[in-house]
Amino acid sequence: MPKIAVETRELTKKFGDFTAVDHITMSIEEGKVYGFLGPNGSGKSTTIRMLCGLLAPTSGVGLVLGMDLSKEGRKIKNQVGYMSQKFSLYPDMTVIENLDLYSGLYGLKGAEKKERIEQMIALAGLQGREDEQTSLLSGGWRQRLALGCAILHRPKILFLDEPTSGVDPKARRLFWDIIYNLAADGTTVMVTTHFMDEAEHCDKVAFIYFGGLIADDTPVDLKKLIPGKLYEVESENGFELLASIQRGEAGTVMDSYFFGKKLHLLVAKNISIEDEKIFKGSVVKEITPSMEDVFAYLVKKESGKELDGGRISGTGEIRLNVDVSTAKEG
Ligand SMILES: Nc1ncnc2c1ncn2[C@@H]1O[C@H](COP(=O)(O)OP(=O)(O)OP(=O)(O)O)[C@@H](O)[C@H]1O
Ligand SMILES: [Mg+2]
Repeated sequence: MPKIAVETRELTKKFGDFTAVDHITMSIEEGKVYGFLGPNGSGKSTTIRMLCGLLAPTSGVGLVLGMDLSKEGRKIKNQVGYMSQKFSLYPDMTVIENLDLYSGLYGLKGAEKKERIEQMIALAGLQGREDEQTSLLSGGWRQRLALGCAILHRPKILFLDEPTSGVDPKARRLFWDIIYNLAADGTTVMVTTHFMDEAEHCDKVAFIYFGGLIADDTPVDLKKLIPGKLYEVESENGFELLASIQRGEAGTVMDSYFFGKKLHLLVAKNISIEDEKIFKGSVVKEITPSMEDVFAYLVKKESGKELDGGRISGTGEIRLNVDVSTAKEG
């Protein structure tokens, strides 16, 4: 049996009457990378803060490395690595001063402290820049330094809250290389992200919506949730075509939406639409769903909306127009 690093049952956090995290049950195996996705305000940071021992749950059970969230928060806090959504570095201090401060907080001393600081400078690629002021580093360097500060004490589990937002693609790739190396060495990683390409590379992905977990599986199995075949249509007049499809002129289409500049159509498995007259002059091909398609499908299913007309940004980022907090409060 694989060892379980994180386990929750019905984990819930309320702020007054508002339920930010709603009866979440999940588990993460040791050494896996677990992606946590959801629109703004859906409860990702609140969940992570509970799992780091920073915020007490209102109800439910949570175990992190076998420690109980409601009783051993302080112990958990000292044993996990946490990179908060706003990188928790001191901007007026230098690179080395930040590392020095964090190693002090984690109780590192002497030779071990010196060794770990050197390793983290190498990990961040900041050799020779130890005395630079942190606020003057560009996003990617700051991000890797923040990661270095979060893992100085060799935590067995690492919680990363949107570590790659506002960082360029090259820095994102470098960052993910580090994450994979940590996981390969046995570190469990839970990471929230808005980037769908990052989600594809997680061992498991959970979707959170209005505080509740609506799916939690491997990327391959999540894609199997889509009930049918997905087609991509490239057309010069996408808007007109979409309107015609939604009037039923392409036969039975369960869902149709813009995906960037192209259209995505969901049809039942036994139906083929390639030869429909309406697509004359367009390029139609069956495709494997992306995580964005899965997410769009799950959200529509969950919110009980008709499957039609949704618009996806197609930039690889979730930007669904759902303001969870006001929708729920108001
Ligand atoms: N301390 C708090 N007091 C009251 N409400 C809070 C508190 N912290 C979070 N919330 C609310 O709980 C909900 C979930 O917030 P949370 O920060 O967990 O969302 P998120 O999924 O991390 O969003 P984002 O993608 O914007 O980071 C939001 O509506 C937020 O306003
Ligand atoms: Mg957040």
